[in-house]
Amino acid sequence: MALVVIGAQFGDEGKGKIVDLFAETADLVVRYQGGNNAGHTLVTNGKKTVLHLIPSGILRSHTLNVIGSGVVVDPEVLLHELSDLETGGVHVTPAQLKISDRAHVILPYHKRLDLAREFRRGSLAIGTTGRGIGPAYEDKIARRGIRMVDFIDRPRFEALFLARMAEINEYLATLPAGSGFGAFVQSEIDEIFHRYAEHAKKVAPFVADTGFLIDEQWRAKKRILFEGAQGALLDVDHGTYPYVTSSNTTAGGAITGTGLSVRAIEHVVGVTKAYATRVGAGPFPTELKDALGERLRSAGGEFGATTGRPRRCGWLDAPALKYAVRTSGVTTLAVTKLDILTGIDPIRVCVGYRVDGGELGTVPACTEKYARCEPVYRDFAGWTENLSKAKKLSDLPQNARKYLDAMTEMAGVPIGWVSVGPARDEVIALS
Ligand code: IMP
Repeated sequence: MALVVIGAQFGDEGKGKIVDLFAETADLVVRYQGGNNAGHTLVTNGKKTVLHLIPSGILRSHTLNVIGSGVVVDPEVLLHELSDLETGGVHVTPAQLKISDRAHVILPYHKRLDLAREFRRGSLAIGTTGRGIGPAYEDKIARRGIRMVDFIDRPRFEALFLARMAEINEYLATLPAGSGFGAFVQSEIDEIFHRYAEHAKKVAPFVADTGFLIDEQWRAKKRILFEGAQGALLDVDHGTYPYVTSSNTTAGGAITGTGLSVRAIEHVVGVTKAYATRVGAGPFPTELKDALGERLRSAGGEFGATTGRPRRCGWLDAPALKYAVRTSGVTTLAVTKLDILTGIDPIRVCVGYRVDGGELGTVPACTEKYARCEPVYRDFAGWTENLSKAKKLSDLPQNARKYLDAMTEMAGVPIGWVSVGPARDEVIALS
């Protein structure tokens, strides 16, 4: 049985908490796209660990954790996460963590390219995480990337690395002097190669044919949990292009990013906040640039887990949510941070857009047009009661229940879980 958890907005929906719920009973937890642009906070023996790359089943000894072929892996980040876990008392063995031999590797030149490209875009910068994600996927699609299987084979790694480094240096040399993103000098190239060749030795025991392994587990009727990163509106095909990440964040990525049969997926849980946030640039019609937006940011602790950047905050965008439900085949929603809306009255939800003299009911392909969309709002009465003690739906104030009912109706799928506070147990299961 395979279940996919995806973000149904622009990322940062609180997927981690919902993934944790399912991870308790999962046999496998699998990452299938993105890289260390994601962030997921775990608490071990009272110590906080932020994982960016390693799947979140890692704290459970019975769970197998897989980094699929669709993920781009920064070996240095991976080794840091392993050593942070070790410090927190969690020793990760190759029996618990498998990395696809087909996953592409992020190297220091990808990071420099990421920053250089953003610099060149100037006011049109995407606001990437600067982790080299986009350039690593570029290399993959352009058929010049370095996969794990090549990385752990030193002569192959050396040949591929030096060839690509030379090409990238040609490009970096064209950037204006003083931009800070110049070409790598020979001593840097030597140092990077030797450092990463050492990393490769440490990573090698974890590298495996994970496609084969996941298929075997699926046939053995194991419970597979796919842990999505970012959100549907950041999908490279279906998101607000070019203000997107470079992978398929929609549920289909779980298939292309692992090699598992398309027939395997039975459930798709779409995680959405009760309002909306976005990090980085790009259209966000329901953004609140006023005191209310500020209130959502501070009440919701809306600062990036990976970069610490303040998140842009706004009202729920129902057409965008419906779009996410459609493009990922979401079967159930999980609503997070309902408690953050407490005390706000009215609560508004965008139910359509007005643009260029007409009305629109879905997210348009043209990003400039989406940016010009004026939301058409429906208002809901708020509530003032503290929600954190609610254990079942009927414990919620009537207006909160009405709001959830409207979300179900607008998204066209039922809500299965509602999170009413940051703690692990502050989640109401609806069925
Ligand atoms: P990249 O993934 O670093 O290339 O960044 C591309 C866009 O995706 C930027 O707007 C980032 O802010 C956004 N992004 C990447 N990862 C996340 C995430 O985990 N949560 C929210 N936004 C993200």
